[in-house]
Amino acid sequence: MVDVDSYRLSVAKSLGADDFVKVSTNSQDVDEEVIQIQQAMGNDIDVSFDCAGFSKTVSTALNATRAGGKVCLIGMGCNEMTVPLTPAAAREVDVISIFRYKDTWSLCLEFLRTGKTDVKPLITHRFGFSQEELVEAFEVSARGGDAIKVMFNL
Ligand SMILES: *[C@@H]1O[C@H](CO)[C@@H](O)[C@H](O)[C@H]1NC(C)=O
Repeated sequence: MVDVDSYRLSVAKSLGADDFVKVSTNSQDVDEEVIQIQQAMGNDIDVSFDCAGFSKTVSTALNATRAGGKVCLIGMGCNEMTVPLTPAAAREVDVISIFRYKDTWSLCLEFLRTGKTDVKPLITHRFGFSQEELVEAFEVSARGGDAIKVMFNL
């Protein structure tokens, strides 16, 4: 697990992530962080999931993933990016994507039903459904930080 936020990383660790690397938002740090991520994994990285969608995060995923591996783009943080795509293509790293978690719902519901996954620790904030609370909830979610899943009580 890789993130800029220590709280999110600690939650990931408590939920079973083998290891984590805290990264910066500075593109200059990619090469050093790729080494840290590869060391933390201890093995070649077959698949990376980018859940942020910025030049820096996708560059990190492309450079950290082994030759012949896959990078799945999930986060959509910005429309245009500058990433080291040609070197990744030369290593035959496949870039794949998923939009709105298509076709993953039934598997997720099965994990919830059987108790295989406990998602409650991911719910960090709950709000009512008034106009003020709606605005506050979106602000909390957009701020990031310790907000992981922000829920509304209907
Ligand atoms: C990523 O890998 C490529 C190819 O090795 C390298 O040119 C580039 O500097 C690396 N780092 C970034 C941030 O793109």
